[in-house]
This record gives sequence, C-alpha cells and structure tokens, in this order.
Amino acid sequence: MRIEQHPVLGTYEKGPLVTFTLDGKEMTGYEGEPIAAALRAAGVMVHRHTLKKNEPRGIFCAIGRCTDCVMIVDGEPNVRTCVTPLRAGMKVQTQYGVSAKE
Ligand code: FES
Repeated sequence: MRIEQHPVLGTYEKGPLVTFTLDGKEMTGYEGEPIAAALRAAGVMVHRHTLKKNEPRGIFCAIGRCTDCVMIVDGEPNVRTCVTPLRAGMKVQTQYGVSAKE
C-alpha cells in the first residue's frame, strides 16, 4: 500500500523509481515521495525504537508534528521521514533513542 495522496499534505511530485537502502538492504521508491511512503509501500512499519523501553514506533501523525517516524538519513539523526522527500541513493537507518548517531 503506497500513500499517494495525503489529506493534509496533499499530493507530491512523484519522480522516477530509485533505489535507496534501509539498514543496508536495498529498497525502491519514487523520488520525491516521502521516505515514509516508500517504506510503508514496502511493508516497513517500524522507523525507530524508544530509548527507555525499546518500543517500536512508526508513522503516527504523518504531518511532521511528532517524532514517531524519525530515522537516521545519510548519517543525520532525527529526520522526520513522513515529510522528507526520497532521493536516489539515500542511506536510511532505523533509529534507536532520540539522537543516535551511526
Ligand atoms: S509521523 Fe509524526 S512527524 Fe512523522
């Protein structure tokens, strides 16, 4: 299931199919769609784990207002993947805690 039209954010410019990695595993998605949309389309539901209880978190608000979808993107932690456009070659990693670096 791919999120193609968001009730709050609206539509986005869907570019060509590109590859990126999630925790070292090659994935595909459309350039310009939110990273979270590409992950959701691939069945990925967990974006991070909480620091204290190691609980899984994924898309919650989907409009960039919470922190449940944050991941490490190209080495930068705390990237809200629900509002960050996918680009070819991105290195996306599951985040543990709130400010984990590689
Ligand atoms: S799901 Fe809330 S900021 Fe992305």
